[in-house]
Amino acid sequence: MNLEKLIDKNIDESKQGTILNISNNISGGRKMYIESYGCQMNFSDSEIVASILTKEGFSTTQSINEADLVFVNTCSIREKAEQTVRKRLEFYNSIKKKENPSMIVGVLGCMAERLKEKFLEEEKLVDIVIGPDAYRDLPNLIQKVDDGRKAVNVILSKEETYADISPVRLGGNGVTAFVSITRGCDNMCTFCVVPFTRGRERSRDPESIVNECKQLVNDGYKEVTLLGQNVDSYLWYGGGPKKDFKKADKETQQNSTDFAKLLENVAINCPELRIRFSTSNPQDMTLTVIQTMAKHNNICKYIHLPVQSGSSRILKLMNRGYTREEYISLIDIIKREMPDCAISMDMITGFCTETEKDHQDTLSLMDYVKYDYGYMFKYSERPNTPAARMEDDITDKIKQRRLSEVIEKQMNHSLFRNKEKIGHSYEVLIEGTSKRSEDYFYGRTTHNSTVVFPKENHKKGDLVMVNIENCTAATLLGKII
Ligand code: 5AD
Ligand code: SF4
Repeated sequence: MNLEKLIDKNIDESKQGTILNISNNISGGRKMYIESYGCQMNFSDSEIVASILTKEGFSTTQSINEADLVFVNTCSIREKAEQTVRKRLEFYNSIKKKENPSMIVGVLGCMAERLKEKFLEEEKLVDIVIGPDAYRDLPNLIQKVDDGRKAVNVILSKEETYADISPVRLGGNGVTAFVSITRGCDNMCTFCVVPFTRGRERSRDPESIVNECKQLVNDGYKEVTLLGQNVDSYLWYGGGPKKDFKKADKETQQNSTDFAKLLENVAINCPELRIRFSTSNPQDMTLTVIQTMAKHNNICKYIHLPVQSGSSRILKLMNRGYTREEYISLIDIIKREMPDCAISMDMITGFCTETEKDHQDTLSLMDYVKYDYGYMFKYSERPNTPAARMEDDITDKIKQRRLSEVIEKQMNHSLFRNKEKIGHSYEVLIEGTSKRSEDYFYGRTTHNSTVVFPKENHKKGDLVMVNIENCTAATLLGKII
């Protein structure tokens, strides 16, 4: 078997660009077709949307030809993501015009929030515009369209966490699932549109999180990823706004649940479940979280820790809340507490005023950390963000050249990290058949490395020990022992 053919992942593929078609043929009523772009949170939100509408008698379909409703869950993170979504909306709009005039097209998520009525009034591309905090209103909006009225709801909420809604697990592998724990983000990184499209940060009741995880175990799931824009700032003290926590009485404060406590609760209550989380941000990560990870075998030894730049000057302009040196000491602490912990990052090249020296600082930081994986992007100015008031003065050519250098370095580091694993054995959770060969499974290690290996007599969902024999930068190849 040709090793190159076994690569299921492209290292520099933006996790922001994946199409997640979660249609799964639940029968009954009018049929909806949902397509998700962007982050894992969007995928998770689409499962909430499916749940809300299934309760109302709608069903799902994988075929656009039989869809009565088409929903596109959208991403605004970079201009390119928005262009991709726009093309999809134009495509669905043309199907509607030419083939199925009664089909309802809805735009969900971040682009809906950012562009609001513009989709309906100027572009006339869609029938429904609905922001990430308004999904409970979908049945009502569909009714409005049926009645020939305007259907927009982009109200952001300070409380909505969809805590009571059991997501309909569609299109997944039946082994791993997402559980959302916080929504929104208060960090206000200057380049980022998320605080505007997803609103204020709020945490979900820990009891509902643990219950959802227990339910997943009952349903046969083996792994969860706890999701939030900024999981380390998770805080629950009975439902009040986070900013008022300091004003709460001592007892309330003592009984509160922070992210470390939540992780521990899930780890203890679901001992048979593997636990991951995403995304951490360096400015909010605590030693207790790291120690909690180290303490529990079922918490995966992998942290996605976006850095964005290796230059303290640029980090300050980005309002990241840490310096290069502080980031490096956090990495040192993680490696001290968990020497074999895998670390990945997000990086942006060509942010406003970035010099060659700043770029070299990024490259040298990468050399220091030697990340296991990386998600790397050219800076893309987003309207109305604080950075949009700075001059986007780095040419696209320079941004691209710096991006290529960063990607090349990361490829080398990923290969280095993977080569270190050759000759060692790791526990792998089998997620399914490899896309490249019927005779091979793929799964992930605690470090989030993808491993491909011959099936033998195992099945999806099994935990097996695999000895690593070969690798590329993206994939490990081995045999079950
Ligand atoms: N331009 C380029 N990349 C961005 N990201 C967020 N906003 C932008 C932007 N305006 C990247 C960051 C973040 C990831 C989810 O997307 O690296 O961590
Ligand atoms: Fe955006 Fe920063 Fe919040 Fe991440 S932490 S969602 S980059 S504002």
